[in-house]
Amino acid sequence: MCGVVGVAGVGDAQKEILGMLTNLEYRGYDSSGMAVLSNGRLHVVKRQGALSELKKELAKPSVPLHGSSGIGHTRWATHGAPSDINAHPHLSSDGKVAIVHNGIIENYKPIKEQLLDDGYVFQSETDSEVIANLAAKLYQECGAGSYRQVLSRLQSRLVGAYAVVIQFADAPDLIGGIRNECPLNYIQNDGQSAISSDLSSLVSYGRDVFCLKDKQCVILGNEGVEVFDESGAESEAIAITINWSVEKARKDGYDTFLQKEIHEEPAAAQAFCREIRNHRAALDAYLKQHSFTKIVVVACGSASFSAIFAEALARQFELPVDVISEVGSEMRYNPPIISSTTLVLAISQSGETADTIGAVKAAKQKGAQVVAFVNVAGSTLEFVSDLVLPLSAGPEISVPSTKTVTNMFLAVYFFLDAMRQALSGARDESWFTSAEDFRAALAEMVGREREFRSIADRISGYQSCFAIGRGVDFSIAKETALKFKETSYLHCEAMNAGEFKHGSISLIEYGMPVLCILTDQAQRKKMVSNINEVRARGAQCIVISDLQPTEIEDAEAMTVITVPAVGPVWNTILTLVVAHYISFLIGTLRGIDVDRPRNLAKSVTVE
Ligand code: F6R
Repeated sequence: MCGVVGVAGVGDAQKEILGMLTNLEYRGYDSSGMAVLSNGRLHVVKRQGALSELKKELAKPSVPLHGSSGIGHTRWATHGAPSDINAHPHLSSDGKVAIVHNGIIENYKPIKEQLLDDGYVFQSETDSEVIANLAAKLYQECGAGSYRQVLSRLQSRLVGAYAVVIQFADAPDLIGGIRNECPLNYIQNDGQSAISSDLSSLVSYGRDVFCLKDKQCVILGNEGVEVFDESGAESEAIAITINWSVEKARKDGYDTFLQKEIHEEPAAAQAFCREIRNHRAALDAYLKQHSFTKIVVVACGSASFSAIFAEALARQFELPVDVISEVGSEMRYNPPIISSTTLVLAISQSGETADTIGAVKAAKQKGAQVVAFVNVAGSTLEFVSDLVLPLSAGPEISVPSTKTVTNMFLAVYFFLDAMRQALSGARDESWFTSAEDFRAALAEMVGREREFRSIADRISGYQSCFAIGRGVDFSIAKETALKFKETSYLHCEAMNAGEFKHGSISLIEYGMPVLCILTDQAQRKKMVSNINEVRARGAQCIVISDLQPTEIEDAEAMTVITVPAVGPVWNTILTLVVAHYISFLIGTLRGIDVDRPRNLAKSVTVE
């Protein structure tokens, strides 16, 4: 979603804001803008398109953005099309307040009507512009210097999800922020203040960062930091330490973050397997303390495929507890039966996905316990969970998720293995001993670009394809299909392989690519039959398996990608990187900006 930032007390606000926005352009990239306070005036420059458009505009000598404080924004449009006018920052019609906003203001219509009656003027179609005019009105009512009252009153008037950074024309070196259900973090060091929706743009100011809680407000200024709630009472933000370096959030010689992050899959997997060991005792104690009758695994997008994987794997393990998968947007408003013996396992890279968080909160209200696997420390999902386990993939910048997805599947395997042991009373360390083999196998896979490229070359000209699998392999087919769609704009539909013959097989034409995932041991024979059914109808079958071609019937008529054999479940997870790599290669062949595919944003903080 949108990225919001602000700085105060810095040498050159324009430069600092641009640097911060560069780090969080992946949150939204249909327009961007900034406001800088200079000689008592808030100067705003904003442009439709990528951040490069804003940079071009700022490079013009006539642009007057010189000052030591300012705010900035990258936008993923919700209300109003991407345009210069709808881009942020929004300035109040009296020019006294500028704001940038991430989220959705649900009650913006009645507020806007009231403000129009009061004579305030609106330029844009956005919900966000009401915040600027409402803040200006509150400021006029509360009197000069009443920044704190304005922020707390804003909090009590706004309904919805928001992270707002606010700047007043008469307050040099002061920046304010308010948060509800969208992340907002700040740091103050050596008289410099920085605030951002995203930790990656704060890390250059220091590692000890504060995360605002819902309904908190902050003022960062020369006098220090004030954190308070909507009643104006003092409050405390959450202190966290960022444990990754700024270099981690750079491309490191790769052309794209996507390729870099696919190449980081072995290291990310290793980091997960090492770090999670430190959490094993806490998980065991937690599982011992509770007796669950049902596990609901909830997530969105790629993360939701790890939930589907969990459901299939639990059946394979014959766990004596119901495990079901849910997508957040459905579960929130059409939930399964949830009680105090339900465990909700929430999985999220960002920890900010509104649909996942909404589903978790609704389940908590019904008494469920919540365990979360999260990649971004300090995220909202952590604060609503009873036990938090890290995905440890490091910063993921590319909008399509890759290294974190592999870690999510690992996390599911780890969790169900721990659950199985907790339920049976057996204790077994073999998961950890196989982890190193898995890392080595992944390292081998990311070195096989030439093999993947030949497949990408062959199928990149098609308009449509299928990905099929049975049992645990269906979740891999789902991830393959989504990666193809978002990274290479190649339409790909995931099917349960056995279900194909009940209708969809009519779409198979001569040469159509079908990616066939073949690792589920219990269903091998059935899957090979399904592959042959589509092959007989002219499909070109690309089989991704832990089997050698010699072990697959009629393999000479297929392309087989064999992943190194690590062990039953590990082999299934290994096939993910093949989908990641091939979709990345097709995307680059098709000239797509693979780090920032159209219409998307990383971290979907709206419903
Ligand atoms: C796909 C992708 C998205 C996310 C989804 C959930 O490559 O990145 O589908 O997986 O938006 O995001 P998180 O994991 O942050 O909750």
